[in-house]
Amino acid sequence: MSEKVLRVGLLGFGTVGSSFAEVLAASQAKDIQLTRIFNRGVQRKKTHDKAQFVPANVAWTERVEDVLEAGDVDVVVELMGGLDPVEGWLRAALNSGKSVVTANKQLIAYRGAALFALAAEKGVHLLYGAAVAGGVPVIPGVAQGLSGDQIKRVSGIVNGTCNFILSSMEAGADYGEVLKTAQGLGYAEANPSADVDGFDARAKLCILSRLALRAEIDPDTVPAQTISTVSAIDFAYAKELGCTIRQVSRAQKDGDKVTARVGPMLVPMTSPIAWSHGTQNMVVTSGRFGGDVVFSGHGAGGHPTAVAVMSDVLAVAHDSSPVRLPARKVAVSGDVMAPYYIRLVVMDKPGIIAAIAGALAKFGVNIDSILQKRGYGTERLPFVVTTEPCLTSTMEQAVAEMASLDSMVEPPMWMQILVVDDPATD
Ligand SMILES: NC(=O)c1ccc[n+]([C@@H]2O[C@H](COP(=O)([O-])OP(=O)(O)OC[C@H]3O[C@@H](n4cnc5c(N)ncnc54)[C@H](OP(=O)(O)O)[C@@H]3O)[C@@H](O)[C@H]2O)c1
Repeated sequence: MSEKVLRVGLLGFGTVGSSFAEVLAASQAKDIQLTRIFNRGVQRKKTHDKAQFVPANVAWTERVEDVLEAGDVDVVVELMGGLDPVEGWLRAALNSGKSVVTANKQLIAYRGAALFALAAEKGVHLLYGAAVAGGVPVIPGVAQGLSGDQIKRVSGIVNGTCNFILSSMEAGADYGEVLKTAQGLGYAEANPSADVDGFDARAKLCILSRLALRAEIDPDTVPAQTISTVSAIDFAYAKELGCTIRQVSRAQKDGDKVTARVGPMLVPMTSPIAWSHGTQNMVVTSGRFGGDVVFSGHGAGGHPTAVAVMSDVLAVAHDSSPVRLPARKVAVSGDVMAPYYIRLVVMDKPGIIAAIAGALAKFGVNIDSILQKRGYGTERLPFVVTTEPCLTSTMEQAVAEMASLDSMVEPPMWMQILVVDDPATD
């Protein structure tokens, strides 16, 4: 009996697409065959060093229809990125009965629900294991391995660029310098906003929330705070508090409510989230019955991401049925009850501490500690206030009040402090 062969049409021969061709060639899988590759500038792509892994009988094309309408393509592997025109192309593929494998987090976060419905209607696969945390199998791990639990919270580090920047700052680097290094190494874009301002991470958080919390969230409604205001002095104070700083993405379900936020947070050194360095990703799920599960590893890069893509292609070849649990559309709140860290830079004069305490008291926020390092001049004196738990919205009001004080030299910088022994189980 001859083995059934799954024929692959690849859209995009860039970092991940070319690595996928290499990983597929290395697998020597007899039941998976690359038949077509679509990319603009095909002649240029054929000279790519990884084009050597593309079998000679593969048809290269600059016309996407040559893949979408091909009789010799069973699964379209989309490794281009972006919402448009990709969404329309993948709809066409699904409509014509082809399965789809993609690494496209924006597409899955913003348009996933409708695409999953279309794939189910057509009886084909739509897999996206590489869309969150690259080579770390958090998507299949949550979808399959943890589907028996009731996950209450998902938190962690899903943007390798921010982790590279912040963990380098923890080791003494300056924000501007390390951002330049990240750009030089190809980790950060020329415009780093999607990474440092949290937009990339919140798209991934919404994908995880759909799977883990079964909550369908609009990414644009998740508050995202930039890491660009974190400075060396914050790491010095964080250390004094037994913490470090990471860009944390966190969503929690309490009954019908979901709270979610992305931003720099003070992370206790005892938390696994503090242990990830460089471009590593780490996701911690907290289940009602199973407790905490940690996923960690290389969140990006051609090879790790291509492994996740290849695993999805194998799942399609083996017709593996993923567990499909319904997700409900949920409004999200960014109002989190937590302790906060506020760093103030002031012109030192009598009464400043009383004025700051007064601003916090006005909104009912209790001070937990006040820290002040020696060795700074009176013109720009940095010090830190940590608070007892209060709502983010209350914190923001108190911070706005502090910002209006005459002696404030720059806008106050504030972050949530993660509490490690905050169980999700009930
Ligand atoms: N890189 C990672 O570590 C990583 C990790 C996880 C997920 N992902 C996701 O994987 C996907 C691919 O990322 P990547 O890093 O491989 O990107 P990339 O290196 O920029 O590759 C994209 C490829 O698609 C081609 N392309 C883009 N738009 C096109 C268009 N309109 N028509 C024809 N060809 C087009 C590009 O051609 P040109 O060379 O001509 O631009 C390039 O070859 C994205 O969704 C990304 O979010 C990437």
